Amino acid sequence: MHELIAPHGGKLIDRFTKQPDALRQKAAALPKITLSAKQACDLEMIAIGAFSPLTGFVNRADFESICKTMHLADGAVWPIPITLAVDEETKSQLSEGGQAALHHTDGTLLAVIQIEQIYPHDKKLEIPNVFGTEDPEHPGVKAVLEEGDWCVGGPIEVITVTPGKEPGEQFTEYRLTPAQTRAAFQEKGWKTVSAFQTRNPIHRAHEYLCKCAQEITDGLLIHPLVGETKPGDIPAEVRMECYRTIIEHYFHPDHTLLTVMPAAMRYAGPREAIQHALTRQNYGISHFIVGRDHAGVGDYYGTYDAQNIFDEFDDGEIQVEILKFEHAAWSHRAQGMVSGKTFPKIKGDQVFLSGTKVRELLSQGKRPPAEFSRPEVADVLIQWAQSA
Ligand code: ADX
Repeated sequence: MHELIAPHGGKLIDRFTKQPDALRQKAAALPKITLSAKQACDLEMIAIGAFSPLTGFVNRADFESICKTMHLADGAVWPIPITLAVDEETKSQLSEGGQAALHHTDGTLLAVIQIEQIYPHDKKLEIPNVFGTEDPEHPGVKAVLEEGDWCVGGPIEVITVTPGKEPGEQFTEYRLTPAQTRAAFQEKGWKTVSAFQTRNPIHRAHEYLCKCAQEITDGLLIHPLVGETKPGDIPAEVRMECYRTIIEHYFHPDHTLLTVMPAAMRYAGPREAIQHALTRQNYGISHFIVGRDHAGVGDYYGTYDAQNIFDEFDDGEIQVEILKFEHAAWSHRAQGMVSGKTFPKIKGDQVFLSGTKVRELLSQGKRPPAEFSRPEVADVLIQWAQSA
Protein backbone atom coordinates (compact mmCIF):
# COMPACT_ATOMS: atom_id res chain seq x y z
CA MET A 1 0.00 0.00 0.00
CA HIS A 2 1.28 3.44 -0.87
CA GLU A 3 1.45 6.20 1.70
CA LEU A 4 -0.95 9.11 1.46
CA ILE A 5 -0.16 12.52 2.93
CA ALA A 6 -0.08 12.47 6.77
CA PRO A 7 -2.98 14.14 8.58
CA HIS A 8 -2.46 17.71 9.81
CA GLY A 9 -0.58 17.40 13.09
CA GLY A 10 0.47 13.82 12.27
CA LYS A 11 -2.39 11.74 13.64
CA LEU A 12 -5.99 11.21 12.57
CA ILE A 13 -8.30 11.90 15.51
CA ASP A 14 -11.33 9.68 16.26
CA ARG A 15 -13.52 10.90 19.12
CA PHE A 16 -16.28 8.28 18.94
CA THR A 17 -16.77 6.44 22.21
CA LYS A 18 -16.33 2.69 22.35
CA GLN A 19 -18.91 2.56 25.19
CA PRO A 20 -21.98 4.48 24.08
CA ASP A 21 -24.32 2.90 26.63
CA ALA A 22 -22.13 3.78 29.60
CA LEU A 23 -21.68 7.33 28.25
CA ARG A 24 -25.43 7.72 27.78
CA GLN A 25 -26.00 6.71 31.38
CA LYS A 26 -23.39 9.13 32.65
CA ALA A 27 -24.76 11.95 30.48
CA ALA A 28 -28.25 11.66 31.99
CA ALA A 29 -27.01 13.28 35.20
CA LEU A 30 -24.98 16.06 33.52
CA PRO A 31 -25.89 19.66 32.74
CA LYS A 32 -27.11 20.04 29.19
CA ILE A 33 -25.85 22.19 26.31
CA THR A 34 -28.02 22.32 23.19
CA LEU A 35 -25.81 22.86 20.15
CA SER A 36 -26.51 25.33 17.36
CA ALA A 37 -26.46 23.98 13.79
CA LYS A 38 -22.93 25.36 13.36
CA GLN A 39 -21.74 23.75 16.60
CA ALA A 40 -23.30 20.42 15.63
CA CYS A 41 -21.35 20.56 12.35
CA ASP A 42 -18.16 21.35 14.27
CA LEU A 43 -18.84 18.44 16.61
CA GLU A 44 -19.09 16.06 13.68
CA MET A 45 -15.92 17.46 12.09
CA ILE A 46 -14.00 16.94 15.34
CA ALA A 47 -15.50 13.48 15.95
CA ILE A 48 -14.55 12.07 12.56
CA GLY A 49 -11.05 13.56 12.59
CA ALA A 50 -11.66 16.10 9.84
CA PHE A 51 -10.48 18.77 12.30
CA SER A 52 -7.40 16.79 13.41
CA PRO A 53 -5.43 17.59 15.55
CA LEU A 54 -8.38 19.07 17.52
CA THR A 55 -9.88 16.65 20.03
CA GLY A 56 -12.56 19.04 21.22
CA PHE A 57 -13.64 22.67 21.37
CA VAL A 58 -10.72 25.05 21.83
CA ASN A 59 -9.44 26.38 25.13
CA ARG A 60 -8.45 29.99 25.74
CA ALA A 61 -4.75 29.77 24.79
CA ASP A 62 -5.66 28.19 21.46
CA PHE A 63 -8.50 30.66 20.91
CA GLU A 64 -6.21 33.64 21.36
CA SER A 65 -3.32 32.16 19.44
CA ILE A 66 -5.59 31.22 16.51
CA CYS A 67 -7.17 34.66 16.34
CA LYS A 68 -3.87 36.51 16.61
CA THR A 69 -1.45 34.27 14.72
CA MET A 70 -3.41 31.60 12.77
CA HIS A 71 -1.63 28.91 14.82
CA LEU A 72 -2.63 26.70 17.73
CA ALA A 73 -0.76 27.43 20.95
CA ASP A 74 1.53 24.45 20.18
CA GLY A 75 2.51 25.99 16.85
CA ALA A 76 0.46 24.04 14.27
CA VAL A 77 -1.32 26.16 11.68
CA TRP A 78 -5.01 26.71 12.51
CA PRO A 79 -6.89 29.75 11.18
CA ILE A 80 -10.41 29.69 12.71
CA PRO A 81 -11.27 29.03 16.39
CA ILE A 82 -13.66 26.09 16.80
CA THR A 83 -15.58 27.30 19.83
CA LEU A 84 -18.39 26.01 21.95
CA ALA A 85 -20.04 29.32 22.82
CA VAL A 86 -22.81 29.31 25.43
CA ASP A 87 -25.00 31.96 27.02
CA GLU A 88 -24.86 33.20 30.60
CA GLU A 89 -27.64 30.92 31.81
CA THR A 90 -26.08 27.75 30.40
CA LYS A 91 -22.69 28.81 31.74
CA SER A 92 -24.08 29.18 35.25
CA GLN A 93 -24.79 25.44 35.31
CA LEU A 94 -21.29 24.41 34.24
CA SER A 95 -18.02 24.14 36.11
CA GLU A 96 -14.40 23.71 35.11
CA GLY A 97 -13.28 20.14 35.75
CA GLY A 98 -16.85 18.93 35.25
CA GLN A 99 -18.65 17.55 32.22
CA ALA A 100 -21.68 18.48 30.14
CA ALA A 101 -23.97 16.59 27.80
CA LEU A 102 -24.12 18.00 24.27
CA HIS A 103 -27.52 17.71 22.61
CA HIS A 104 -28.92 18.23 19.13
CA THR A 105 -31.79 20.73 18.89
CA ASP A 106 -34.17 17.77 18.51
CA GLY A 107 -33.09 16.55 21.96
CA THR A 108 -30.82 13.70 20.87
CA LEU A 109 -27.76 13.20 23.03
CA LEU A 110 -24.69 13.58 20.82
CA ALA A 111 -21.66 13.72 23.07
CA VAL A 112 -20.11 14.58 26.41
CA ILE A 113 -17.54 17.34 26.86
CA GLN A 114 -14.86 17.26 29.53
CA ILE A 115 -14.89 20.90 30.60
CA GLU A 116 -11.31 22.09 30.97
CA GLN A 117 -12.02 25.80 30.74
CA ILE A 118 -14.86 28.28 30.70
CA TYR A 119 -13.69 31.66 29.41
CA PRO A 120 -15.18 34.89 28.06
CA HIS A 121 -15.93 34.74 24.33
CA ASP A 122 -13.71 37.54 23.08
CA LYS A 123 -15.70 38.49 19.99
CA LYS A 124 -13.72 41.73 19.65
CA LEU A 125 -10.64 39.60 19.11
CA GLU A 126 -12.26 36.90 16.99
CA ILE A 127 -14.38 38.88 14.55
CA PRO A 128 -11.93 41.37 12.97
CA ASN A 129 -9.11 38.83 12.90
CA VAL A 130 -11.03 35.90 11.44
CA PHE A 131 -13.32 37.78 9.06
CA GLY A 132 -11.28 40.89 8.28
CA THR A 133 -14.42 42.96 8.91
CA GLU A 134 -16.73 43.79 11.79
CA ASP A 135 -19.73 44.41 9.58
CA PRO A 136 -22.69 42.72 11.33
CA GLU A 137 -24.21 42.03 7.89
CA HIS A 138 -21.37 39.62 7.05
CA PRO A 139 -22.97 36.17 7.59
CA GLY A 140 -19.98 34.76 9.50
CA VAL A 141 -19.70 37.84 11.72
CA LYS A 142 -23.46 37.76 12.28
CA ALA A 143 -23.27 34.13 13.42
CA VAL A 144 -20.51 34.91 15.96
CA LEU A 145 -22.37 38.01 17.23
CA GLU A 146 -25.45 35.88 17.87
CA GLU A 147 -23.48 33.29 19.83
CA GLY A 148 -23.15 33.22 23.62
CA ASP A 149 -20.65 35.34 25.52
CA TRP A 150 -18.83 32.40 27.11
CA CYS A 151 -16.78 29.60 25.58
CA VAL A 152 -16.47 26.08 26.93
CA GLY A 153 -13.23 24.31 26.04
CA GLY A 154 -12.22 20.68 26.31
CA PRO A 155 -12.14 17.29 24.60
CA ILE A 156 -15.33 15.54 23.54
CA GLU A 157 -16.46 11.92 23.54
CA VAL A 158 -19.05 11.35 20.88
CA ILE A 159 -22.00 8.95 20.67
CA THR A 160 -23.56 9.98 17.37
CA VAL A 161 -23.39 12.87 14.90
CA THR A 162 -26.27 13.06 12.45
CA PRO A 163 -29.61 12.58 14.15
CA GLY A 164 -32.77 14.44 13.42
CA LYS A 165 -31.84 15.69 9.98
CA GLU A 166 -34.10 14.95 7.06
CA PRO A 167 -32.96 11.71 5.36
CA GLY A 168 -32.29 13.66 2.17
CA GLU A 169 -29.76 15.83 4.00
CA GLN A 170 -27.75 13.01 5.45
CA PHE A 171 -26.13 11.83 2.21
CA THR A 172 -25.29 8.60 3.99
CA GLU A 173 -23.50 6.92 1.10
CA TYR A 174 -21.43 10.04 0.43
CA ARG A 175 -20.67 10.84 4.08
CA LEU A 176 -17.23 9.26 4.26
CA THR A 177 -15.01 9.99 7.24
CA PRO A 178 -11.40 10.99 6.60
CA ALA A 179 -10.31 7.40 7.37
CA GLN A 180 -12.89 5.98 4.94
CA THR A 181 -11.93 8.52 2.28
CA ARG A 182 -8.28 7.58 2.65
CA ALA A 183 -9.22 3.91 2.29
CA ALA A 184 -11.16 4.73 -0.89
CA PHE A 185 -8.11 6.48 -2.37
CA GLN A 186 -5.92 3.50 -1.49
CA GLU A 187 -8.37 1.14 -3.12
CA LYS A 188 -8.39 3.20 -6.30
CA GLY A 189 -4.60 3.28 -6.26
CA TRP A 190 -4.55 7.10 -6.15
CA LYS A 191 -1.31 8.40 -4.69
CA THR A 192 -2.03 12.05 -5.35
CA VAL A 193 -5.50 13.56 -5.13
CA SER A 194 -6.84 17.08 -5.73
CA ALA A 195 -9.81 18.27 -3.73
CA PHE A 196 -12.43 20.69 -4.95
CA GLN A 197 -14.34 22.54 -2.23
CA THR A 198 -17.68 24.00 -3.22
CA ARG A 199 -20.88 25.39 -1.74
CA ASN A 200 -22.55 26.20 -5.04
CA PRO A 201 -24.04 24.30 -7.96
CA ILE A 202 -21.26 23.29 -10.32
CA HIS A 203 -20.74 25.49 -13.38
CA ARG A 204 -18.31 25.42 -16.29
CA ALA A 205 -15.57 27.38 -14.50
CA HIS A 206 -15.71 24.94 -11.57
CA GLU A 207 -15.53 22.06 -14.03
CA TYR A 208 -12.51 23.65 -15.75
CA LEU A 209 -10.63 23.96 -12.43
CA CYS A 210 -11.45 20.34 -11.61
CA LYS A 211 -10.23 19.09 -14.96
CA CYS A 212 -6.99 21.09 -14.84
CA ALA A 213 -6.37 19.53 -11.42
CA GLN A 214 -7.18 16.10 -12.78
CA GLU A 215 -4.38 16.50 -15.31
CA ILE A 216 -1.96 16.94 -12.41
CA THR A 217 -3.06 14.34 -9.83
CA ASP A 218 -4.19 10.72 -10.01
CA GLY A 219 -7.67 11.50 -8.79
CA LEU A 220 -10.11 14.30 -8.07
CA LEU A 221 -12.27 14.51 -4.95
CA ILE A 222 -15.33 16.68 -5.50
CA HIS A 223 -15.98 17.55 -1.88
CA PRO A 224 -18.97 19.83 -1.40
CA LEU A 225 -19.58 21.39 1.97
CA VAL A 226 -23.03 20.23 3.10
CA GLY A 227 -23.16 21.60 6.66
CA GLU A 228 -24.75 24.86 7.76
CA THR A 229 -24.84 27.54 5.04
CA LYS A 230 -26.45 30.97 4.98
CA PRO A 231 -30.05 31.58 3.94
CA GLY A 232 -30.13 32.11 0.18
CA ASP A 233 -27.45 29.52 -0.63
CA ILE A 234 -28.76 26.63 -2.73
CA PRO A 235 -29.71 23.60 -0.58
CA ALA A 236 -27.14 20.83 -0.42
CA GLU A 237 -29.49 18.15 -1.75
CA VAL A 238 -30.09 20.18 -4.93
CA ARG A 239 -26.38 20.78 -5.33
CA MET A 240 -25.67 17.08 -4.84
CA GLU A 241 -27.97 16.31 -7.74
CA CYS A 242 -25.96 18.80 -9.83
CA TYR A 243 -22.64 17.16 -8.88
CA ARG A 244 -23.96 13.66 -9.60
CA THR A 245 -25.31 14.83 -12.94
CA ILE A 246 -22.16 16.55 -14.14
CA ILE A 247 -20.00 13.59 -13.09
CA GLU A 248 -22.28 11.19 -14.93
CA HIS A 249 -22.12 13.19 -18.16
CA TYR A 250 -18.78 14.97 -18.18
CA PHE A 251 -16.20 13.33 -15.86
CA HIS A 252 -14.14 10.15 -16.02
CA PRO A 253 -15.55 7.86 -13.32
CA ASP A 254 -12.19 6.18 -12.73
CA HIS A 255 -10.58 9.45 -11.74
CA THR A 256 -13.42 11.21 -9.92
CA LEU A 257 -14.90 10.68 -6.46
CA LEU A 258 -17.85 12.54 -4.95
CA THR A 259 -18.20 12.62 -1.16
CA VAL A 260 -19.41 15.30 1.24
CA MET A 261 -17.89 17.40 4.00
CA PRO A 262 -20.27 18.08 6.90
CA ALA A 263 -18.66 21.40 7.91
CA ALA A 264 -20.44 24.70 8.51
CA MET A 265 -19.55 27.56 6.19
CA ARG A 266 -18.02 30.66 7.83
CA TYR A 267 -17.63 32.83 4.71
CA ALA A 268 -14.26 33.87 6.14
CA GLY A 269 -12.55 33.99 2.73
CA PRO A 270 -8.76 33.74 3.14
CA ARG A 271 -8.73 32.16 6.60
CA GLU A 272 -11.40 29.69 5.58
CA ALA A 273 -9.37 28.70 2.52
CA ILE A 274 -6.61 27.59 4.89
CA GLN A 275 -9.15 25.76 7.03
CA HIS A 276 -10.54 24.05 3.95
CA ALA A 277 -7.07 22.96 2.81
CA LEU A 278 -6.03 21.56 6.21
CA THR A 279 -9.33 19.76 6.61
CA ARG A 280 -8.96 18.14 3.21
CA GLN A 281 -5.41 17.12 4.12
CA ASN A 282 -7.00 15.08 6.89
CA TYR A 283 -9.16 13.41 4.24
CA GLY A 284 -5.93 12.40 2.48
CA ILE A 285 -5.69 14.79 -0.45
CA SER A 286 -2.35 16.15 -1.61
CA HIS A 287 -3.52 19.14 -3.71
CA PHE A 288 -6.24 21.67 -3.02
CA ILE A 289 -7.98 23.97 -5.50
CA VAL A 290 -8.30 27.66 -4.60
CA GLY A 291 -9.84 29.83 -7.29
CA ARG A 292 -11.26 33.32 -7.25
CA ASP A 293 -12.66 34.68 -3.98
CA HIS A 294 -12.62 31.26 -2.30
CA ALA A 295 -15.12 31.04 0.59
CA GLY A 296 -15.91 34.70 0.10
CA VAL A 297 -19.20 36.53 0.26
CA GLY A 298 -20.25 39.93 -1.06
CA ASP A 299 -17.17 42.06 -1.70
CA TYR A 300 -15.45 41.68 1.65
CA TYR A 301 -12.32 40.06 0.20
CA GLY A 302 -10.03 40.73 -2.75
CA THR A 303 -10.32 38.28 -5.64
CA TYR A 304 -7.04 36.52 -4.80
CA ASP A 305 -6.73 37.19 -1.03
CA ALA A 306 -7.56 33.56 -0.33
CA GLN A 307 -4.60 32.50 -2.49
CA ASN A 308 -2.12 35.08 -1.22
CA ILE A 309 -2.67 34.21 2.43
CA PHE A 310 -0.86 30.90 1.90
CA ASP A 311 2.34 32.88 1.25
CA GLU A 312 2.30 34.09 4.87
CA PHE A 313 3.42 30.68 6.15
CA ASP A 314 6.88 29.17 6.31
CA ASP A 315 7.83 26.32 4.01
CA GLY A 316 6.47 23.01 5.26
CA GLU A 317 3.91 24.54 7.63
CA ILE A 318 1.15 23.68 5.20
CA GLN A 319 1.84 20.41 3.45
CA VAL A 320 -0.97 20.42 0.93
CA GLU A 321 -0.03 21.87 -2.43
CA ILE A 322 -2.34 24.74 -3.29
CA LEU A 323 -3.52 24.84 -6.89
CA LYS A 324 -4.24 28.51 -7.50
CA PHE A 325 -6.54 29.41 -10.37
CA GLU A 326 -7.32 32.78 -11.84
CA HIS A 327 -10.85 33.78 -12.68
CA ALA A 328 -11.97 31.38 -15.44
CA ALA A 329 -14.73 31.77 -18.01
CA TRP A 330 -15.70 30.67 -21.51
CA SER A 331 -14.07 32.67 -24.31
CA HIS A 332 -15.90 32.87 -27.64
CA ARG A 333 -12.67 33.72 -29.44
CA ALA A 334 -10.71 30.85 -27.90
CA GLN A 335 -13.71 28.53 -28.11
CA GLY A 336 -13.03 27.15 -24.68
CA MET A 337 -12.55 27.87 -21.01
CA VAL A 338 -9.76 30.37 -20.34
CA SER A 339 -8.32 32.36 -17.48
CA GLY A 340 -6.36 35.59 -17.34
CA LYS A 341 -3.26 33.43 -17.57
CA THR A 342 -4.19 31.50 -20.70
CA PHE A 343 -5.93 34.02 -22.94
CA PRO A 344 -5.98 37.81 -23.11
CA LYS A 345 -9.07 39.62 -21.98
CA ILE A 346 -10.99 41.12 -24.87
CA LYS A 347 -14.06 43.20 -24.22
CA GLY A 348 -17.27 41.21 -24.61
CA ASP A 349 -15.45 37.96 -25.37
CA GLN A 350 -15.98 36.07 -22.13
CA VAL A 351 -19.27 34.74 -20.78
CA PHE A 352 -20.01 36.19 -17.34
CA LEU A 353 -23.34 35.87 -15.57
CA SER A 354 -24.16 37.24 -12.14
CA GLY A 355 -25.79 34.97 -9.57
CA THR A 356 -28.90 37.16 -9.74
CA LYS A 357 -29.11 36.80 -13.52
CA VAL A 358 -28.71 33.02 -13.29
CA ARG A 359 -31.49 32.80 -10.68
CA GLU A 360 -33.74 34.93 -12.85
CA LEU A 361 -33.23 32.65 -15.86
CA LEU A 362 -33.76 29.48 -13.83
CA SER A 363 -36.95 30.68 -12.22
CA GLN A 364 -38.29 31.49 -15.72
CA GLY A 365 -37.49 27.91 -16.71
CA LYS A 366 -34.65 29.05 -19.00
CA ARG A 367 -31.23 27.44 -19.17
CA PRO A 368 -28.24 29.77 -18.77
CA PRO A 369 -25.94 29.58 -21.83
CA ALA A 370 -24.21 26.19 -22.25
CA GLU A 371 -20.90 28.07 -22.05
CA PHE A 372 -21.80 28.93 -18.46
CA SER A 373 -23.64 25.85 -17.22
CA ARG A 374 -23.97 22.33 -18.62
CA PRO A 375 -27.60 21.92 -19.80
CA GLU A 376 -28.11 18.79 -17.68
CA VAL A 377 -27.10 20.73 -14.57
CA ALA A 378 -29.25 23.68 -15.61
CA ASP A 379 -32.25 21.35 -15.83
CA VAL A 380 -31.73 20.14 -12.25
CA LEU A 381 -31.66 23.76 -11.12
CA ILE A 382 -34.69 24.75 -13.20
CA GLN A 383 -36.69 21.97 -11.62
CA TRP A 384 -35.68 23.18 -8.16
CA ALA A 385 -36.20 26.89 -8.93
CA GLN A 386 -39.67 26.23 -10.27
CA SER A 387 -40.73 24.06 -7.34
CA ALA A 388 -39.23 26.38 -4.70
S1 ADX B 1 -16.74 28.50 -2.15
O1 ADX B 1 -17.34 29.27 -1.05
O2 ADX B 1 -16.81 27.06 -1.92
O3 ADX B 1 -15.37 28.99 -2.45
P1 ADX B 1 -17.81 28.13 -4.84
O4 ADX B 1 -18.49 26.84 -4.65
O5 ADX B 1 -18.45 29.07 -5.78
O6 ADX B 1 -17.66 28.87 -3.42
O7 ADX B 1 -16.32 27.93 -5.34
C1 ADX B 1 -15.65 26.73 -5.33
C2 ADX B 1 -14.21 26.93 -5.79
O8 ADX B 1 -14.20 27.39 -7.16
C3 ADX B 1 -13.41 27.97 -5.01
O9 ADX B 1 -12.06 27.58 -4.95
C4 ADX B 1 -13.55 29.22 -5.86
O10 ADX B 1 -12.47 30.09 -5.65
C5 ADX B 1 -13.51 28.63 -7.26
N1 ADX B 1 -14.21 29.42 -8.31
C6 ADX B 1 -15.54 29.66 -8.40
N2 ADX B 1 -15.83 30.33 -9.54
C7 ADX B 1 -14.65 30.52 -10.19
C8 ADX B 1 -14.28 31.15 -11.45
N3 ADX B 1 -15.17 31.68 -12.27
N4 ADX B 1 -12.96 31.16 -11.77
C9 ADX B 1 -12.03 30.61 -10.94
N5 ADX B 1 -12.32 30.02 -9.77
C10 ADX B 1 -13.61 29.96 -9.40
